[in-house]
Amino acid sequence: MSGPFPSQGRLRSEDRGIMNDPRSDEYGKILDALPCYVTLQDRELNVLWSNGSCRRDFGDPAGKRCHELYGIGTSRCPDCPVQQTFADGLVYNREMTLTTRDGQRMTVIVHSSPVRDENGQILSVLETAVNITSIKDIQKQLILLGQTVAGMAHSIKNIMMGLEGGIYVVNKGIEDKKPDEIKEGWEMVLLNFDKISHIVKDILYCSKEREPDLQNIKPNEIVRQVYKLFKDVAASYGISIKLDLDDNVNSAVIDPQGLHTVLSNLVTNAMDACKIDLWKDEHLVEIRTRPGSNSATIIEVADNGIGIDKDLSGHMFEDFFTSKGDKGTGLGLMVTQKIMREHDGSITFRSRPSEGTTFVATFPRKELPEA
Ligand SMILES: Nc1ncnc2c1ncn2[C@@H]1O[C@H](COP(=O)(O)OP(=O)(O)OP(=O)(O)O)[C@@H](O)[C@H]1O
Ligand SMILES: [Mg+2]
Repeated sequence: MSGPFPSQGRLRSEDRGIMNDPRSDEYGKILDALPCYVTLQDRELNVLWSNGSCRRDFGDPAGKRCHELYGIGTSRCPDCPVQQTFADGLVYNREMTLTTRDGQRMTVIVHSSPVRDENGQILSVLETAVNITSIKDIQKQLILLGQTVAGMAHSIKNIMMGLEGGIYVVNKGIEDKKPDEIKEGWEMVLLNFDKISHIVKDILYCSKEREPDLQNIKPNEIVRQVYKLFKDVAASYGISIKLDLDDNVNSAVIDPQGLHTVLSNLVTNAMDACKIDLWKDEHLVEIRTRPGSNSATIIEVADNGIGIDKDLSGHMFEDFFTSKGDKGTGLGLMVTQKIMREHDGSITFRSRPSEGTTFVATFPRKELPEA
């Protein structure tokens, strides 16, 4: 087979060994329009021709070998499907990662098939690469979803055992006519009921599109409610919760339930981060409010807990990401981010490993929707 093909990558009838067909230009146009990458390669993996999609995303193939064009590296891939097809004439499929000329990585499924002459000799190999990055992303999410459902079923099973324990204590208290036992059992029932309803509400929240119930509220008041809710349980773990509320944050148009959920999730995470931190004598969670630019409302939840390692920080807002094993569902920040998006707001964080973390929720100024 002769040297490299025309630099524009156009199929021409005189390009022997490719398609000895006067209509090659017509075929070329059709191949150019395909939404996948098509190349023709010789035994040395020189790219003899590429279609329009391939030239657009990977550039001019002239003088390049397959792995060079596709940004894989300077040496050929192990188990190269094109070489396998040259060796036995069969069709091979393989999943690979390619890098476009502007640095984007994509997962593709590659098919290699032989192009033969009239005597059945393999002249070249046609390789098609179909971008399956979005399918892979969905696949990853489904795997995560499966793991999460299994994890949640496990957590719910544990909670059910807690419920059973509570019911047993209540029944025993009734039998023994001991109000203290009944009270103790009932508290166990309520605690575990609360846990289950929390998980179920989070799942329902994530599973549908929802318009926030915007109302003119006093954000500091919601912060105080959340503070009251958590301060005792925090104290039981030796964690103090402090408030630093700016009086100027006295009115904003926000969904009160949404803000309550955001704060509860952030405070729960902050407390968890303190609970597992064994290095500090005193643990503190601080909830702050302040006005932002353009009359935004900014709410911060800061802790001096374990902090977030660099390798974890990129995954924090991923669906179902948790570092807490059975004890977490990875729904907290997912719900939080959804609520912030519904408000056209944002949630960010800064953290120093082993020192602590601050989450910053910014609610932009909004008008009440017209009645
Ligand atoms: N303040 C924080 N300090 C350290 N790590 C944090 C903090 N907040 C969140 N994280 C990390 O982010 C992960 C995801 O948090 P998220 O609230 O989404 O899920 P979770 O707390 O693990 O489970 P769930 O909230 O559903 O019970 C946590 O598992 C933890 O690793
Ligand atoms: Mg959480």
